[in-house]
Amino acid sequence: MTAITEFVSYQAEGSVGVVTINNPPVNALSVGVRVGIKGGIEAANADASVTSVVIVCAGRTFIAGADIKEFGKPPQSPSLHEVIGAIETSSKPVVAAIHGTALGGGLETALGCHYRVADKGAKVGLPEVKLGILPGAGGTQRLPRVVGVPMALQMITSGTPIGAKKALEVGLIDEIAGDDLKASAMAFAQKVVDENRPLVKISDRDDKLQEARDNPAMFDEFRKSIARKTRNFEAPENCIKAVQASVDLPFPEGIKRERELFMELMTGEQSISQRYFFFAERQAAKIPDVPKNTPLIDINSAGIIGAGTMGGGIAMNFLQAGIPVKMVETSQEGLDKGIEIIRTNYAATVSKGRMSQDAMDKCMSILSGTINLEDIKDVDIVIEAIFENMEVKKEIFGKLDKICKPGAILATNTSTLDIDEIGEATSRPESVIGLHFFSPANVMKLLEEVRTKKTSKTVMASCMALAKRIGKIPAMVGVCEGFVGNRILHRRSEQSTNLIMEGALPQDVDRVLFDFGLPMGPFAMSDLAGNDVGWRIRQGKGTTSPIADAICELGRFGQKTGSGYYLYKDGSRTPTPDPIVEDIVLKASKDAGIERREISDDEILKRCIYPMINEGAKILEEGIASRPSDIDVIWVYGYGWPIYRGGPMRYADSIGLENVYNTLLEYQEKFGDEFKPAPLLERLVKEGKTFAEA
Ligand SMILES: NC(=O)c1ccc[n+]([C@@H]2O[C@H](COP(=O)([O-])OP(=O)(O)OC[C@H]3O[C@@H](n4cnc5c(N)ncnc54)[C@H](O)[C@@H]3O)[C@@H](O)[C@H]2O)c1
Repeated sequence: MTAITEFVSYQAEGSVGVVTINNPPVNALSVGVRVGIKGGIEAANADASVTSVVIVCAGRTFIAGADIKEFGKPPQSPSLHEVIGAIETSSKPVVAAIHGTALGGGLETALGCHYRVADKGAKVGLPEVKLGILPGAGGTQRLPRVVGVPMALQMITSGTPIGAKKALEVGLIDEIAGDDLKASAMAFAQKVVDENRPLVKISDRDDKLQEARDNPAMFDEFRKSIARKTRNFEAPENCIKAVQASVDLPFPEGIKRERELFMELMTGEQSISQRYFFFAERQAAKIPDVPKNTPLIDINSAGIIGAGTMGGGIAMNFLQAGIPVKMVETSQEGLDKGIEIIRTNYAATVSKGRMSQDAMDKCMSILSGTINLEDIKDVDIVIEAIFENMEVKKEIFGKLDKICKPGAILATNTSTLDIDEIGEATSRPESVIGLHFFSPANVMKLLEEVRTKKTSKTVMASCMALAKRIGKIPAMVGVCEGFVGNRILHRRSEQSTNLIMEGALPQDVDRVLFDFGLPMGPFAMSDLAGNDVGWRIRQGKGTTSPIADAICELGRFGQKTGSGYYLYKDGSRTPTPDPIVEDIVLKASKDAGIERREISDDEILKRCIYPMINEGAKILEEGIASRPSDIDVIWVYGYGWPIYRGGPMRYADSIGLENVYNTLLEYQEKFGDEFKPAPLLERLVKEGKTFAEA
């Protein structure tokens, strides 16, 4: 075997030259890999003993993509284009042997090969769009030539990979391998030689492009079909334009166009934010003061207390991960109802074809219930999800302390209560942690984990690992009112209420925030969650909020009652502005002696967003979140902050902290101290730094 570079070797095996890539963990296309592949192909072409070439990867996967660490750095030769060119122009047929995932540059490399053989479990795709870019090494020009334009558009704009079976069906791979991938690929290469098959380059093919040439309207139809999902994103449109170029232009010019469209995205704010977020998400899983090798608690069973809205959703996450769940309720009736809702939810998913009946049966078979708390004495983790009341929660935790086995994790799903205090209700506060799921808990990706002053490192590390197992994105925060997500949300709620008192209408505020990229504005969100929730909390605390209270007094609790800040006609989920609400708003301003004024969209946006950023700065200063990027992860996954704006803290960095600071000072002068810039923000502005550099 000849080592071409540190990561790539070449060996003649019989009449097949085998180029092996070994760059753990995912065989990313770093410069050493690129040099090696090119060298390997050259070696095979120069080796008179071989008639064909196989490119195969060691380890758990084929090339899973570009080396994202090289992004933004000066390019190093050879470029991936050159490497793929060398493969495609090889005088001997080249076969890619794919296992694991061939993604991005990995699939583009495989598309440079003359044939592709894949393991039955392999997945192939071009996920670049998820980083705000497009496949820039010929992917947008070669893929449509292999699978046709409709399929290529689908794969490139969604970034979702397809499995080997589908890939075979659409012609993206030529054969599914037997148990030994390398042997199958070598046999395939031999067959190509034996049958004297022509050396067809994908770049020369254009039979699959004809359908789009005959029907150019398909591009606009496709645009329409993804418009809602890709609202405000720039990358999908450039992906479509690039695929369109594969149809309209000869291959070399198509490649040039792909390059232009790629560079446009690469240097744009959206992809900078999306690439930032890629790292933010991975970073959030690590807790600075918890070492990587912290021993973990084995979690193989869960007890969930409360089979209500949250308890049911939380249970589904565990069941789908194969972890048995025992639900606890106060009555058999409540328990049956809770379990029935889980069953109905699964059945709906099955009927939509998104889950197999078999998978549903498996989930239901590991779900059980009890009305006796003692029955969860042996579980590895307990998650309490009963109604929000400190005294009752403390009582439950006191009982759990007596019942549960030593070392069990005792978690609460509270949204607002002091978890330090809940921990003190036990003799083992080190085992107590907050696991704040978001509603609907079986859907929302975020898991805000809340450490108390005493939560042990083992418990924290175990809950981070658990999040991954149950398909959640975790971020660890400390105890404070509303934790990180809701504490920041409250700042926005205050301002949206003030804005409508001063002159805007709910639909103005909602439109501005929707256009900014959030899934909905604060008033539509309140209608969705139920306006009565806040009303009852205010009643309990003896506080008032004139507009919100007046809306609730009319029984307008939101979507569930057909009206709230908006009307929802005939069970529709589409909010329609309602003159009655406008009257309520105008009257509230008048009663408060406020002279209403015209409020610009710009002011609405800044009034809502800048106090959120300011609160984020306070949260960082207090050490409640360890990194600005953790706050961003919470807002993207918990509240739908547009990923192309990175999260509130990254957004602040992108528009300039000085701008945020100066506007806050101006508002402080006009509206009061709620806008007073946080000391951290002030310091960073003085030092000319960003949050990321804090
Ligand atoms: N609903 C949300 O959007 C949301 C989001 C995040 C967190 N939370 C938190 O989750 C918790 C539960 O909220 P929810 O919306 O699911 O409430 P819910 O009213 O839908 O469900 C609570 C359930 O707990 C049961 N219960 C009450 N006391 C019990 C006891 N002693 N033993 C066993 N079961 C008991 C009730 O019968 C009820 O079924 C609260 O702490 C809430 O703050 C809610």
